[in-house]
Amino acid sequence: MSRFMAAIYDRFMRDMEALSGAAWRAALLADLRGDVLEVGAGTGRNLDHYPADLASLVLSEPDPHMRARLTKRAHELGSSARITDWPADALGAPDASFDAVVCTLVLCSVPDVARALAEMRRVLRPGGKLVFIEHVLSSRPSRAAWQRRLEPAWRLVAGNCHLCRETDARIGEAGFEIADITRESARKALPIVREVVRGVAIRGGEPGAARGPSS
Ligand SMILES: C[S@@+](CC[C@H](N)C(=O)[O-])C[C@H]1O[C@@H](n2cnc3c(N)ncnc32)[C@H](O)[C@@H]1O
Repeated sequence: MSRFMAAIYDRFMRDMEALSGAAWRAALLADLRGDVLEVGAGTGRNLDHYPADLASLVLSEPDPHMRARLTKRAHELGSSARITDWPADALGAPDASFDAVVCTLVLCSVPDVARALAEMRRVLRPGGKLVFIEHVLSSRPSRAAWQRRLEPAWRLVAGNCHLCRETDARIGEAGFEIADITRESARKALPIVREVVRGVAIRGGEPGAARGPSS
């Protein structure tokens, strides 16, 4: 992500966060317990919503411009979170070391979704939670057609953000059991990134064996 995109990220997200995003983040993160890893933590939009009594919190963010903002925000909030530069597909943590992995608006940008999900699964303890919010390919054909048209240019300006991923299906294929999922529109988001899935998936059996509800 460019320095410019990192600088405008919070402003770009402001209306969507006020109308949808902050409430979704709060609801998904409130019940977390134990050791938590957030992947692609960006500027730290989730920091306000973590329970104060987590055993540990690790925030990974490979982009140096985003990480600088994350570090500043964590400092301002007095957070004791450890901040790392791990990319989603090469997490520098031992197997089964977290009770939850948080991934919000990140799987659109990773080079290989299956590999990133395999890493998240690897670092989760059995029964651990993957908490996600991701924009996806629209279920409205006319909007999906626009997403397909605009994706190549959008990826160039928006840090490799893909518009046409069916991320909920990929989560099921990666060996997670989807425990809770909601698909809805992010109010005030651009139409091409408006359809969002959010929920919780549990680290299940072998990849490919588990399937969540289709949506
Ligand atoms: C749209 S921002 C979302 C930031 C934050 N998670 C949020 O909810 O506001 C996408 C983030 O994913 C990060 N990202 C991109 N590729 C990544 C990768 N391969 N591994 C981990 N994070 C990545 C970007 O640096 C950026 O911070």
